[in-house]
This record gives sequence, structure tokens and C-alpha cells, in this order.
Amino acid sequence: GESHRGRDAEKKREGMESPFKADILRGKVGLITGGGSGIGFELSTQFGKHGASVAIMGRRKSVLDAAVSSLRSLGIQAVGFEGDVRKPEDARRVVESTFQHFGRIDILVNAAAGNFLASPEDLSPNGFRTVMDIDAVGTFTMCHAALKYLMKGGLGRGSSEGGGSIINISATLHYTAAWYQIHVSAAKAAVDALARNLALEWGTDYDIRVNGIAPGPIADTPGMSKLAPDEINSKARDYMPLFKLGEKWDIAMAALYLVSDAGKFVNGTMIPVDGGLWLSKPRH
Ligand code: HXC
Repeated sequence: GESHRGRDAEKKREGMESPFKADILRGKVGLITGGGSGIGFELSTQFGKHGASVAIMGRRKSVLDAAVSSLRSLGIQAVGFEGDVRKPEDARRVVESTFQHFGRIDILVNAAAGNFLASPEDLSPNGFRTVMDIDAVGTFTMCHAALKYLMKGGLGRGSSEGGGSIINISATLHYTAAWYQIHVSAAKAAVDALARNLALEWGTDYDIRVNGIAPGPIADTPGMSKLAPDEINSKARDYMPLFKLGEKWDIAMAALYLVSDAGKFVNGTMIPVDGGLWLSKPRH
């Protein structure tokens, strides 16, 4: 009847149940940029459902407020901090506030991103720079500001704890080339380079793991609504290997693997979570 359909709809909205145990991130604190919406919000939710406390950073107070109250309604310890990853002073303030609020920081997720479609000839140098600033420079700025806390949770040299971990939300665009996204392709290529270099240097020196996740087309995200032509729902599916869009849940599960002990030997890796789309070709 009606209530049964209601429950089904609710289950669908909340995504599938997790195959991971509910305590795999117990005691951990995660800071997620762009955590108020889209993929970042789903990561925040799933980190929280698996025991972490979460701080979310974003530019829009109303979006943060709504996200925090929805996380708290699930029983998740959550706090929101306004800030723009393009501003080093915002980055410093937000990581410090997160540490003050929760007493440690174990996980940084760089999910904040900017995007729009523009051909190279229509894209102004400032438009190019804006996306580089948000995605690439912003990711470096956040990592740089968070470093001292990610070392042993910020608990100091005497602590017996290992280092924390960083995840960058990237893309697959730059593996090949992508129409109207020269700025995003360049920015995400830089984001992946950051992950590899930090994995090398901070992995060696501070026991901090740094990895990336490259989502394909994910349903119900700002990325899809801004970027995907309607044909993705019809024509393009003919050459999508798994023949469907991904869910935000799929990205969150990859993130749980990477930040939990399951991923303790994984460092400097980019995991495409795209159903195999980036390497596919039309059937002939
Ligand atoms: C051409 C554009 C443009 C557009 C902005 N610009 N939008 N150029 N086409 N649609 C240019 C402007 O003209 C300007 O250059 C420069 O970019 C800066 O624009 P502002 O509006 O001042 O920037 P700002 O207000 O800071 O906004 C940043 C933004 C915005 C990137 C433009 O869209 C944003 O912040 N979006 C965040 C949310 C978002 O997009 N999330 C989805 C991420 S999806 P001039 O020369 O005029 O000064 C994602 C998917 C990755 O990342 C890949 C998936 C496959």
C-alpha cells in the first residue's frame, strides 16, 4: 500500500545499505570540502554512518546549514564551516576550527570543484584560471593547511597513532580529452599530480596516504546537471559498459575503502569509479 511505497522511496533516496561495518571510521574526524552538496555530501553522510565525525566546508551558508542539520538528524556529529578553498586564510581558519571542535583531524577530502562548459575559444583566461584555482590550487591549499593535523591526528610527535589520509575527487576527462572542458581537464590532471607527489613525500615523511577517486557520470549531482547533455540518458548509454549512471553511493563506498584500514597499503592511486566508461568505444 501507500506506506510501503513510501518506505521504498525512502530507501531509494538514502541509497543502498553499506557492505562495510558501521564502526570502521569510529573515532575518526573527516573534513570534507564541498561537503554540503552532491558527492561531497554523500561522502559526509557515509563517513558519519561509519562512525566518523565530519566537518563540512563550503561557500554557501544556507547549503551548509541544511546539510549539517540533515547529518545531525542521522545521529552524526557534524559541523559546517563557511569558506572558499581559493582563500588560504579560509583554509587555515577551517582546518583550525575543525581541530578545535573535534580535537583531531584524520581525513581530508577535497571535493570542492568548479565547472561549466566552454569551448577553448569562448573560455577567457580568467575562466580557465578560476577553475584551476578552485580545483588544483584549492586542493593544494587545503592539503597544505591540514598537514600538521593529519600527522598523527594532530596529536603530536609522542603519539603512537599513524598518519591520516587525503582523498581528492578527480575525474576521468584528462585520461583522454573532453569537449568544452579544457579548464577542468587541466585542473583535474593537476589534482592527480598533487595526489601522486603528496603520496610520495608525505607518505614517506608523515605516514599520510593520498589517493584520488575519479567518478564517471553520477546521477543526481551538480556535475551531471551542469555538464551532461540529455543524450547521456539515451545515445551515450549505448557505449557505457555497465549501461547506466553511477550513484553517489558508489563514490562513497570507494572512499570508505580508501580511508579505512582496508586501504592501508593503498597510496598514490587514482581509482576510476565510472563503470569502465572512460576506456570504452562504440561497438562496431
Ligand atoms: C564561460 C564562464 C562561465 C561559463 C564563469 N565563467 N562561468 N565562462 N562559460 N558558463 C568565467 C567568467 O566569465 C569569469 O571570467 C570567470 O569564469 C570567473 O567567473 P565568476 O562567475 O566570477 O566565478 P565564481 O563566481 O567564482 O564562480 C566559479 C564558477 C562557478 C566555477 C564559475 O560555476 C562555481 O563556483 N561553481 C561551483 C559549483 C560547481 O560547479 N560544482 C560542480 C562541479 S562538477 P571573466 O574573464 O569573464 O572574468 C565537476 C565535475 C567534474 O567538477 C567533471 C565531471 C565529468
